[in-house]
Amino acid sequence: MTDTHATSFLSDVVAIVGDAHVLTDTDAMAGHLTDWTGRWTGTADAVIRPRTTDEVAAVVSACAAHGVAICVQGGNTGLVGGSVPPTEPASRGLLVVMSTARMTDIDEVDTRGRCVGVQAGATIDQIDSRAAEHGLRFPVDLASRESATAGGVVGTNAGGVRMIRHGNTRRQVLGIEAVRADGQVLRRWTSLVKDNVGYDIPGLLAGSEGTLAIVTRVLFRLVAPPASTIVTVAAVRHVEDSFALIDTMTERGLTVEAAEIMTDAGIELVHQHGVRRPVAAHAPFYTLVEVSGTGDVEAAVIDVLDDADVVDAVLEPGPARDLWAARERHTETISRSSTTPVVKLDVSVPIRALPEALAELAAVADLVEHPCRSILFGHVGDGNIHVNLLDVPEHNAEELTGRVFGIVAANGGSISAEHGIGRAKVAWTHLGRSDVDLATMRAIKGAWDPDGRLNPGVLFG
Ligand code: MLT
Ligand code: ZN
Repeated sequence: MTDTHATSFLSDVVAIVGDAHVLTDTDAMAGHLTDWTGRWTGTADAVIRPRTTDEVAAVVSACAAHGVAICVQGGNTGLVGGSVPPTEPASRGLLVVMSTARMTDIDEVDTRGRCVGVQAGATIDQIDSRAAEHGLRFPVDLASRESATAGGVVGTNAGGVRMIRHGNTRRQVLGIEAVRADGQVLRRWTSLVKDNVGYDIPGLLAGSEGTLAIVTRVLFRLVAPPASTIVTVAAVRHVEDSFALIDTMTERGLTVEAAEIMTDAGIELVHQHGVRRPVAAHAPFYTLVEVSGTGDVEAAVIDVLDDADVVDAVLEPGPARDLWAARERHTETISRSSTTPVVKLDVSVPIRALPEALAELAAVADLVEHPCRSILFGHVGDGNIHVNLLDVPEHNAEELTGRVFGIVAANGGSISAEHGIGRAKVAWTHLGRSDVDLATMRAIKGAWDPDGRLNPGVLFG
């Protein structure tokens, strides 16, 4: 592409969003070109910050006319390199980052229909706060709630800590507005709970990682928050003890709102970084369970703990931020404690295979010559374990990733439980999908984005 061509494209875009919202300066673009983990970086010719769906559509049309590729970016809290552009290959044409940072509007909450329409750049925390003003709750919650955006959680079909209770993000999407690669706006916007006219396009866009269209607005389902909750952290010797605890809570009529697992190494690490240990006793695993119910929930939880095989346990009425901090501070603390960008592998295995798989996964870091460490934690109730490999030299990253995914595949699991494929896992999608399945996905991609200009390198490589 010639400089004249680039100048003509950029002047078209400036005419749409205004000069202040087309960043080309290296320093101004820097934060958009490296992901949260620091492991994935790329290059772009500009970062564009539209305000409305119409502006997105006009910019995408200009990109189509000039053959420009687009990397879609929300809060840039993704962990698999899906929200930053690739490093520029010699042959690449122009590429821009389309940031939704200015698209933060949240509509009036529909209290009777229990839903709210939001722009793609609204954060999870902002959406939940708006819902709370009306006595409701946004069912998706995750530690990065203050930066993660509506478009991002839809794009990755995020799970988060309330997945066990309410399902993943796809289940919360009632309607969607998205700009197609040709610049047309596709709007499927209804709060009807029964509406079976053809394909489930909102469901398809959820988890599509920005490869099919640019989500600009979402109509989300809201739920009533539980009347009262109790959060308990139990130190346990075996993973099976965590499952026994969760099962007994359910059998006794309590509703499990979240069920997480941590290891002693993880608890010690966050403790060294200023987080209070939830329980004094040491044990191989710690399970955090949040439950709700009717009647005396605290007494019911105490009864369960009395009968359970636990080393030690504490409980507190929700929200119990201190107890949750031990779990939620894992990501940031792990990242700060590693001498190299953390290799983060987000996997799931069937619950019945989890104890054995966990032991195998914990040993992976010992398999390379260079000393590195692993810290495992995750959403135990969903069979979802976050494998974090610290101090891994770049030349060992691929080998260790392959070993982790080998264990996961052998146990009938998934190489991407909730973070998506991004760039990080493209080489391994065959472990999770058959050739026919992958070919079908490529056909869908080809139908929506025939020139492959949306999030090139993500999902398909
Ligand atoms: C979490 O569960 O905290 C997130 O998925 C982030 C992470 O895996 O580090
Ligand atoms: Zn997670």
